[in-house]
This record gives sequence, structure tokens and C-alpha cells, in this order.
Amino acid sequence: MPLTSPAIHIPVLQDEVLAWLQPTPNGLYVDGTLGLGGHTQAILEKTTPSGRVIGFEWDEDAAVKAGERLSGYPDRLHIVRASYAALVPELMGLGVEGIDGLIADLGVSSLQLDQAERGFSFRADHALDMRMDRRGLITAASLVAQLSEEQLANIFYYYGEERQARRIARFLVEARQEAPVSTTGRLAEIVAAAVPRKYHPPKVHVATKVFQALRIAVNGELDNLAKLLATAPEVMVPGARICIITFHSLEDRIVKQTFVQNPAYAVLTKRPVEPSRAEMQRNPRARSAKLRVAVRV
Ligand SMILES: C[S@@+](CC[C@H](N)C(=O)[O-])C[C@H]1O[C@@H](n2cnc3c(N)ncnc32)[C@H](O)[C@@H]1O
Repeated sequence: MPLTSPAIHIPVLQDEVLAWLQPTPNGLYVDGTLGLGGHTQAILEKTTPSGRVIGFEWDEDAAVKAGERLSGYPDRLHIVRASYAALVPELMGLGVEGIDGLIADLGVSSLQLDQAERGFSFRADHALDMRMDRRGLITAASLVAQLSEEQLANIFYYYGEERQARRIARFLVEARQEAPVSTTGRLAEIVAAAVPRKYHPPKVHVATKVFQALRIAVNGELDNLAKLLATAPEVMVPGARICIITFHSLEDRIVKQTFVQNPAYAVLTKRPVEPSRAEMQRNPRARSAKLRVAVRV
């Protein structure tokens, strides 16, 4: 996601999503990651007067805020407080038989990053939480406290693509024997101490990859994405399009491979669609965004 103040919220790749999704006024669309509702609002505007959106959002704060922002579309927006991984059962529960398109804009929202107490960021010292859905039981602190050194190293290596994974895991396990590692600040300090100075990246915080890795593990992000992609064709009508925006290579690889390998999909974007230079300048988070689109055959 994006920018901005709640009032003017321009989501990543908004124009590109509308161009590829091709929403029409009688259509029913799913936004798998409602967030503050930027993409949903764009679809609702484009499909005036009767297009409808079902928005999935498992973070209560985001769902409430999006509901307030989009209160002007009471009959056209339905918010589901569940994971998009439960797309099919949730739609069945609503009596929906087919959808005309789906968008998912993955990852963490600016709202979540800005709420320091959610524990996603090393910019302030808060409880090491990182749950997008606070009904969940697993937090980043519980993983750091309970997993073995090898399990932690694997999370940092596979989900963070962190080359110093083993060393960081060793430092963490030593540190937790002295006192629980339960805050973002302490985790960031331990990572900074574990990684030799010459390997500290010049432009980003040295703990960036470790924080990404823990967030992916806490929220089961890659499993959820795989499940969404595997099950979405069951509810997409033939010709419906699926647009997925990813922010790192692990997610992008899953989308790219599934679109090619699953015979229910035909790929529409041979190469991923990326934001224009102007958008990247306006919104730094857009820099790593990649949009891939497929159609239900
Ligand atoms: C990048 S933001 C989406 C922003 C949105 N497109 C907008 O314009 O406001 C991602 C949102 O997806 C939500 N999310 C992430 N994984 C989810 C999942 N498995 N199910 C439902 N929501 C999820 C997050 O809580 C977050 O609010």
C-alpha cells in the first residue's frame, strides 16, 4: 500500500489495476486486502451505479476505518472480517456463486506501520507483536521465545533472504537466555550486534529483513497467498480477472508460478506491471510493487 491521509488515499498502481481488472457496472468484485479501501473505492467509483465489492480485511482497525471511509456506498460494499485464504467458504456463506474479478494488494499497510504499538516497525520501541489479525495467538515475541535456533535461522533465511540468518539466530538465542526478547527495539539491537558492521546495508536498517521474515511467519503470509491462488478459480466466473500486487520476490515467485502452472489461469501479464517513475517518487513504498494479472479460463 501507499501514502496518505485517510481522506485522500491513493493506492498503489490504482490506474493499472482498473485497466487490467476491467470492472463493469453490473459486476461483483472481491478486494482480498481491503486496507483503508483505496482499491475498493476506485472499483466502486468505476462501476457506478450498481457494481459491488466484497472486501476481506482481517485487521479490525483497518476494517473499521475502511467502513467509515466508504460509508457512502452502503448497498455496494460488504466487509468480511476474515482472511482471504478463506475466500471460498466465506463467499459460500454469503450465497455468492461467482465473482467477476479479484484484487489483492499484499503485505502490511501504512496504517499498521504507523501504529507503533502493533510492533511491525523498528522505528519505535514497542511490544514485538506483528499480528495483522489480533485474534491470532502467535506473535513475533512468542516465535522468538519458543522456536529453536535452527527454526529461527530458517525463518530469517527463507522469509527474509537474510544471509546472516544463522549468526542472528545464534545471537538471539543467547540473548533470550539473559532476558526475554519482547520488544522491537531489543530485537533490532540484537540484530545490529549480530551482523558484522561491514555487512550493514547502507540505505535500510540492518534489521529490515529479520522484521519482514518474522511478519511473514506470524501472519502465515505465503501459505495464505498460495491458498488464495489455488482456490480463487472455484469462485471466479470464466473471463474474470485476478490482479495481485506483491512487494517482495517470495510473493512474486508464488504468483508467477501459480499463474503459469494452474490450468484454470491464463497469464495476461508476461512481465509484471510496475509503477511509473512519478508514482515511485510520490510514494516510496510503491518502488517494489509488482502487479501480475491472469484470467479465469
Ligand atoms: C497493503 S494493505 C491494502 C491496502 C488497500 N489496497 C488500500 O488501498 O487501502 C494490505 C491489507 O491487507 C490486509 N491483509 C493482509 N493479509 C490478509 C489476509 N490474509 N486476509 C485479509 N486481509 C489481509 C492487511 O491487514 C492490510 O490492511
